[in-house]
Amino acid sequence: MKLTSHPRFVTLEGGEGAGKSTTLAALRDYLRARDQEVVTTREPGGTALAEQIRALLLDPHHEPPAPETELLLMFAARAQHVREVILPALERGAWVISDRFTDSSYAYQGGGRGLDAGFIEQLEQRVVGIQPALTLLLDIGVVHGRERARGRDLPPDRIERERDEFFERVRDAFLERAAQEPGRFRVIDATQSIATVATQAVACLAERVEG
Ligand SMILES: Nc1ncnc2c1ncn2[C@@H]1O[C@H](COP(=O)(O)OP(=O)(O)O)[C@@H](O)[C@H]1O
Ligand SMILES: [Mg+2]
Repeated sequence: MKLTSHPRFVTLEGGEGAGKSTTLAALRDYLRARDQEVVTTREPGGTALAEQIRALLLDPHHEPPAPETELLLMFAARAQHVREVILPALERGAWVISDRFTDSSYAYQGGGRGLDAGFIEQLEQRVVGIQPALTLLLDIGVVHGRERARGRDLPPDRIERERDEFFERVRDAFLERAAQEPGRFRVIDATQSIATVATQAVACLAERVEG
């Protein structure tokens, strides 16, 4: 694979309501307590332009984008995010923790929409070029995750309005990627309490930090 793995680049993946945003805060606090600079960010988004692409992607009011449109907009946002935020932070020695990254494209546009993984891999190599050293996959059943996400009280965005079958394919694709790259992925049972998930996530990161 023509991808550069960065030791201080960590991503959180998983379905809606798995607890990615919640867990990200615990990882950030762990690193800050060790006097590390930490940049936390999210996808799609992470820069002003990429957040505008996010708004386009998630807006339920225009016609549904073709799967290819969705994929290319995701990678357009990611291209900007990598160059403007992630690489500059890594180059100055900071840690970067991203709530979603390229694995989400394999899961949603690949598994969910049925686009060819080989095509996504070409985009990853040509447009992204980097990979996290550690990816925490927070795994939870689709219905359970949706119930939690509903607790946030925001109206569902365009992708959140998909049917359960779509999210089952997304979950399967995430688990399949984790099985294919066991060195990079750690799968955490996200049905556990917030405190337990945070403890396990921090332990995975501590392995990398403390060797
Ligand atoms: N392990 C957990 N147990 C119970 N509730 C949780 C857990 N993790 C997160 N939550 C709650 O579920 C909701 C979704 O969590 P969030 O971190 O926003 O998920 P995500 O970012 O993966 O969509 C929030 O209200 C959060 O407080
Ligand atoms: Mg979130």
